[in-house]
Amino acid sequence: WWSHVQMGPPDPILGVTEAYKRDQNSNKINLGVGAYRDDNGKPFVLPSVIEAEDRMRKKNQDKEYAPISGPAEFCKHSITLALGEDNEHVKNSLNATVQGISGTGSLRIGGAFLQRFLPGKDLYLPTPSWGNHTPIFKDSGLNVKQYRYYDPATCGLNFNGALEDISKIPEKSIILLHACAHNPTGVDPKPEQWKELSKLIKDKKLFPFFDMAYQGFASGDVAKDAFAVRLFVNEGHQIALAQSYAKNMGLYGERAGAFSLVTSSKQEADTVMSQLKILVRPMYSNPPVHGARIVSEILGDASLKSMWLKDVKGMADRIISMRTQLRDGLKKEGSSRNWAHITDQIGMFCYTGMNAQQVERITKEFSIYLTKDGRISMAGVTSKNVGYLAKAMHEVTK
Ligand code: LMR
Repeated sequence: WWSHVQMGPPDPILGVTEAYKRDQNSNKINLGVGAYRDDNGKPFVLPSVIEAEDRMRKKNQDKEYAPISGPAEFCKHSITLALGEDNEHVKNSLNATVQGISGTGSLRIGGAFLQRFLPGKDLYLPTPSWGNHTPIFKDSGLNVKQYRYYDPATCGLNFNGALEDISKIPEKSIILLHACAHNPTGVDPKPEQWKELSKLIKDKKLFPFFDMAYQGFASGDVAKDAFAVRLFVNEGHQIALAQSYAKNMGLYGERAGAFSLVTSSKQEADTVMSQLKILVRPMYSNPPVHGARIVSEILGDASLKSMWLKDVKGMADRIISMRTQLRDGLKKEGSSRNWAHITDQIGMFCYTGMNAQQVERITKEFSIYLTKDGRISMAGVTSKNVGYLAKAMHEVTK
């Protein structure tokens, strides 16, 4: 039956981990997948998550199915975290929110909904964008197109290029925006630039779809990282929003995330919700409960929430300090290149500017693993390996 099936390529991001695992070098470093490590290079379970699980254990919860859309309190906490407690949409329930299978699953529900209900089925991604965006939206049946975003010359934002491309996008198309800590580049628009983007997107009658995978993780402040999302909603955009708790709560394997549509009325929220449930039921019936319960436990309790906010800030600060140490290390090695973008960029990733040959060399000669585009996960850099990384990066970029 399957002789015609051809071998597919390994995943550009998760395939890096497979190659890393096969390497015997004791100095090896995995800077491929974006997964936080503590300063000993070990996976990190947040203290607030451990406390939440301790509390959950005492409640003797059952293992019954969640509703199709996920637990109602989880959905309410998610949209509140994104838009803020004082937001009018939150207060008046002008949103349809369902639990998704982390960020990817939430984006996929959004893709399926837009494919079914939006007349223009073109979705525009920034160039570059997270490697999984294109397959997610193509598999959802949308036409995936692009707008300029990153400027390789400055390792920063090509703002004029973005404005020019966006102004040419046909009405009723979907534009995907990274809410903060753009993946893979770590390059975000500044607040004034977000304001300009919001105006242009409204004038051009485009539909904004935000991917917010790093709220709190970029700056250590959940409100600051939600600036763009809140701005767009306050300026009257009815956004789509995918959220993930993989990074900011360290719930990678728990697959807890949310998909929301902001609506113009309560009645619209109800009809949209009914259709989201119709989409979810044949895909996976209903979402896993454990991760969602952890999120609700944390966000539903003031003391646990403040403990979590400290945990997130701790992770963000460790990453920020690794950026400084890496930049200093390159200088110490004698690199004459301008590495300012290492500390200018934000979030989990640094788009180093290393080209494919340099990436190949650093992997072969130093057992340092990263994606071919030169992206490194700053979360895998520690005070113990940063010196080795700086030396290797200098060696291959001389
Ligand atoms: C990444 O970009 O490394 C993360 O978002 C993890 C993933 O699933 O790709």
